[in-house]
Amino acid sequence: MSGKRIYIHEVAPRDGFQNEANFIDTDAKVALIDHLSWCGFAKIEATSFTSPKAIPALRDAEAVMHRIKRDPEVVYTVLVPNVRGAERALSCSVDEVNLVMSVSESHNRSNLKMTREQSFAQLSDIIRVVKSTDVTINVSLSTAMGCPMEGDIRQDEVLGWVQRFADLGVDGVTLCDTTGMAYPTQVGTLCKAALRRFAELEITLHFHNTRGMALANTLSALAAGIDRFDASLGGLGGCPYAPGASGNICTEDLAHMLELEGYDTNLDLTALLSASAMLPGLIGHDVPSQILKAGRRLDLHSMPSNVVNA
Ligand code: COA
Ligand code: ZN
Repeated sequence: MSGKRIYIHEVAPRDGFQNEANFIDTDAKVALIDHLSWCGFAKIEATSFTSPKAIPALRDAEAVMHRIKRDPEVVYTVLVPNVRGAERALSCSVDEVNLVMSVSESHNRSNLKMTREQSFAQLSDIIRVVKSTDVTINVSLSTAMGCPMEGDIRQDEVLGWVQRFADLGVDGVTLCDTTGMAYPTQVGTLCKAALRRFAELEITLHFHNTRGMALANTLSALAAGIDRFDASLGGLGGCPYAPGASGNICTEDLAHMLELEGYDTNLDLTALLSASAMLPGLIGHDVPSQILKAGRRLDLHSMPSNVVNA
């Protein structure tokens, strides 16, 4: 008997690598994405088509998209902030564009150098063009559960932005907790309201573990009926233009919990852990992953020698 299917989107190659100080070699990025392609993800966010001045770590986006070996079972998506980014993404035959803007004016101006209305105008133009192709359209709404400069964002404000994109006919919307400000009851209320109002949209939740609440928030979202989550291998991640941002919910920690709880994630945890073990060598520092350090719940230890010899 298999449990409820939960769709996991791997975002380390985008949310993770965008925040690394040292440039990761294109061949290494491609090798990691190729490994992730056979771990069982529904989606992989492979890179972003942002300004190379804003996000130098991902300045090799075209090369990455051209060199990876794509698995037809996986949706390869890319983050796009403006019309120029969409043109670049379409020239690489992506499966999906993940358009980004923030529901808080302050974070949108800091991250994208535009007002929210300017972003919405650019993203609307992109949507009109992309809708005539077979590329699907997702919109990631940053700071949907709190802005590090403005604080709480009203739920009706968040849902109002979802409505504006739903009216343009997008396929999905991701509610992003950009700096880990979400807490479980808030998540439950928001998810229930979003699912009730936007039954036609694919809704994804995107948590950061900045305050240690990402797994708790996931349980709350699951209870509300959400079945799609972004997660990042090793727990890498963070927005360089959001003060205090840190890593996403860790993919292997999430997969480990969901497996114990009886959900069907389609993920190969052993393959994930071997990919995560390669990260410190790739990025030059330790990663937040708990399961990489502690092992799975039933990876048992031998008896301490002082007990055995007594
Ligand atoms: N891809 C490549 N180059 C781009 C680009 C894109 N998508 N968008 C703009 N540029 C280039 C322009 O061609 C111009 O180049 P030039 O200086 O050589 O003439 C330069 O960047 C500035 O263009 P402009 O339109 O004035 O952009 P900006 O400086 O106002 O920055 C964004 C706006 C949106 C492009 C930039 O802030 C950005 O890429 N932000 C992404 C932030 C991000 O990814 N955050 C983390 C994820 S949430
Ligand atoms: Zn993020």
